[in-house]
Amino acid sequence: MRLLKPSIREISAYVSALQMGWSPDNLRSEAAQEQITSIETDAESFVSNLDDPTAKAGPITLPDGSQVPRLPSIRRWIWQDEFCGHIGLRWKPGTEELPPTCSGHIGYAVVPWRQKEGLATAALVAILPEARAVGLQHVQITTSPDNPASVRVIEKAGGTLIRSYTADKALGGRETLEFRILLAS
Ligand SMILES: CC(C)(COP(=O)(O)OP(=O)(O)OC[C@H]1O[C@@H](n2cnc3c(N)ncnc32)[C@H](O)[C@@H]1OP(=O)(O)O)[C@@H](O)C(=O)NCCC(=O)NCCS
Repeated sequence: MRLLKPSIREISAYVSALQMGWSPDNLRSEAAQEQITSIETDAESFVSNLDDPTAKAGPITLPDGSQVPRLPSIRRWIWQDEFCGHIGLRWKPGTEELPPTCSGHIGYAVVPWRQKEGLATAALVAILPEARAVGLQHVQITTSPDNPASVRVIEKAGGTLIRSYTADKALGGRETLEFRILLAS
């Protein structure tokens, strides 16, 4: 497994995954079609905005349609012979805290046809040094109690459960588990 910085060279593999019905946003299935349209309009900008450590890409649309300022973020494509999914890291500079409308420092998804191969676990372990490099001492990762695969991914990467809480209404107000992974200095 390799984590690739998004690049125009591999954009056709990414578009194929979108066309096969994979949604890059775990909370918004309509994101797939939105992204196909953006890529058709301006693929270069689309790719450059995916990896966005200066938060230049403008506001984020939440599941309830509201918009919030973007945090700095990086995105990596999970690659093993082909595009297999993605993993993203976002952070607020100078703190481990996150706004209530941000569901954790790290989010990931693996395309359905490449799941259960250990790819999400390997990707999560591989992105932790990047989190350390932007100054974080720990990362928080959230998931639903109804998502045993994601819970297992986090546990296998060293996560411990911190709390169970109800997510912000703008994120859907669902029961959520928050895990923490300490980052070695
Ligand atoms: C969650 C997700 C990323 C897991 O990806 P993956 O590459 O299949 O995960 P891994 O292969 O690394 O599996 C890690 C562990 O989860 C287990 N697992 C995978 N799918 C599972 C499932 N459907 N039910 C229960 N356990 C599952 C694996 O068996 C493995 O545990 P083990 O080593 O003890 O056997 C993937 O299912 C996905 O993309 N889901 C939709 C998006 C999502 O939920 N993202 C997370 C949001 S917080």
